[in-house]
Amino acid sequence: MAVVKTASEEAIAAAAALLRQGRLVAFPTETVYGLGADATNGEAVAAIFEAKGRPRFNPLIVHVPGIDEAQMHAQMPPLAVTLAQAFWPGPLTLVLDRREGSPLSDLVSAGLGTLAIRVPDHPIAQALLAATQRPLAAPSANRSGRVSPTRAEHVASDLGDRVAMILDGGPTAHGLESTIIDARASEPVLLRAGAVPSETIEAVLGCKLKRSTAAKERPNAPGQLESHYAPRARVRLQARDVENGEALLAFGSDVPDTTGPVINLSPSGDLIEAASKLFAALRQLDASGAETIAVMPIPSQGLGEAINDRLQRAAAPR
Ligand code: TXA
Ligand code: MG
Repeated sequence: MAVVKTASEEAIAAAAALLRQGRLVAFPTETVYGLGADATNGEAVAAIFEAKGRPRFNPLIVHVPGIDEAQMHAQMPPLAVTLAQAFWPGPLTLVLDRREGSPLSDLVSAGLGTLAIRVPDHPIAQALLAATQRPLAAPSANRSGRVSPTRAEHVASDLGDRVAMILDGGPTAHGLESTIIDARASEPVLLRAGAVPSETIEAVLGCKLKRSTAAKERPNAPGQLESHYAPRARVRLQARDVENGEALLAFGSDVPDTTGPVINLSPSGDLIEAASKLFAALRQLDASGAETIAVMPIPSQGLGEAINDRLQRAAAPR
């Protein structure tokens, strides 16, 4: 069972040490409790999906201490800066273009070129960010399909045996997730209604927010995001051999011979390791110029379900 700890200075230091080792720590924000991992550590981010039992890789929100740190990972056009200055720290998440060379794992944004980022307005979340010195990926700390937790006890009953520590900061103030705005273009789009009312945002902007035409709060299914990364190469699943001119996305130890490019997601057959490498591997094999990426069979248990979901989308005819 995970330790629920009153968020003393000591407990925060211990939580930061766990996060830096790649472990999961649940912590309070002003909206709901988050299930946190070091956003630069792909395996730690993969462990979030495993703990939540999500059958898909949804992109996650990255939490940073301030606007300067946000700008290290994302490009902030003037409109985004205006929103950040008005609402950060606070329950507003901005979807922005990812900066080239940002050390964030590809899995955190599910292979998208965009990034959802926010600055939490909660002393414990801020103290944890300061102690960890890493951006923290954190979805709501509930099992997939359950409601978002607003108390440490909720997290304990849902995820107690799947996190290294739960920092208890009492009930959260808003109890509702952050508002999500796509702030990349000059016309901001409301992607998820949340703790900051859209009227308040419109008052700052002096204009109406566009509503996302995709189903409300549905960028969840990354396959439905128009901008979702799809490889240029064809993708051939369940490959047990490699044809001429193919690149190979391998898994496990029983890899067929090939002279072409190969990336092995996990020679030892570890699905967490495989998930952490998936998006970067697809990009890299795509960049090799191969016409087709042959993908070895990957078992569908645990994180394998989400891995196979993503691969099936990549292989779908377009
Ligand atoms: O209040 C909150 O936002 C809480 C606390 C812990 O910060 N977090 C939270 O995260 O609600 P989560 O993972 O439950 O919701 C993340 C939402 C999903 O709807 C996801 O699709 C969207 O953010 N999202 C993340 N990255 C995105 C991106 N690059 N483009 C569009 N939507 C994105
Ligand atoms: Mg959630």
